[in-house]
Amino acid sequence: MDTALWDFSRATGVVALVLLTVSLCLGITVRSRTRPAGLPQYGVTALHKSASLTATGLIGVHLITLLLDSQAKVNLTDLLIPFLGARHPFWQGLGTLALEVLGLVVLSGLARRRLGERAFRWLHLTSYALWPLALLHGLGNGTDARTPWMLSLCAVCTIAVLAAGWWRLGPSFPVARRSAAARLQHPEALRTADALGGEALVGQPVGQ
Ligand code: HEM
Repeated sequence: MDTALWDFSRATGVVALVLLTVSLCLGITVRSRTRPAGLPQYGVTALHKSASLTATGLIGVHLITLLLDSQAKVNLTDLLIPFLGARHPFWQGLGTLALEVLGLVVLSGLARRRLGERAFRWLHLTSYALWPLALLHGLGNGTDARTPWMLSLCAVCTIAVLAAGWWRLGPSFPVARRSAAARLQHPEALRTADALGGEALVGQPVGQ
């Protein structure tokens, strides 16, 4: 039982990081409205949601086990205020910031209808900050950060996120392509949509 809490906190932290990586890549896939491996659109969205919620649950367990483990020296204040931790305050503080961004993303997801689509989208974009914060926190704070398996896992996650980000920002991304096509066909409508900050035609098949 001695190291059980510690093992549990490390394991849940690592699996949560992997799931946040999967969730980010799936989020970009949802945005593209493509259907990988022939999955229906709602299937990709459901996977994205499940990965995020499971990661959130695991982060909850990560924190509870750390609070219960007297050797970890984590207290409730550390969960709210970054950079005050007794051990590795900087790297632990990045974990606290990641937790706060996660809270924002989850709460804005729950209040999506009340917030409206535009506010939800802007708040949801903060999830791009969540992943690097969590990665750096894990590498800086974790016991396993120098082990080959953890370094390899972090490298694979980084490659996946960079590849997804490259696709998202590139001209081949379906929304960017549709947007360019729509600009040619409906320049006036798009100007209005841009002024409203909305995406009236962007992201929808041209002509709809
Ligand atoms: C999005 C939120 C978080 C994620 C994804 C996350 C993930 C991780 C990962 C991957 C590790 C490395 C585990 C290992 O080396 O095997 C770790 C370690 C650690 N985390 Fe977090 N973490 C988060 C939030 C927090 C918060 C808010 C705190 C406390 C304020 C915290 C405290 C710690 C501590 C003390 C360790 C070191 C455990 C050890 O001794 O190895 N984490 N975390």
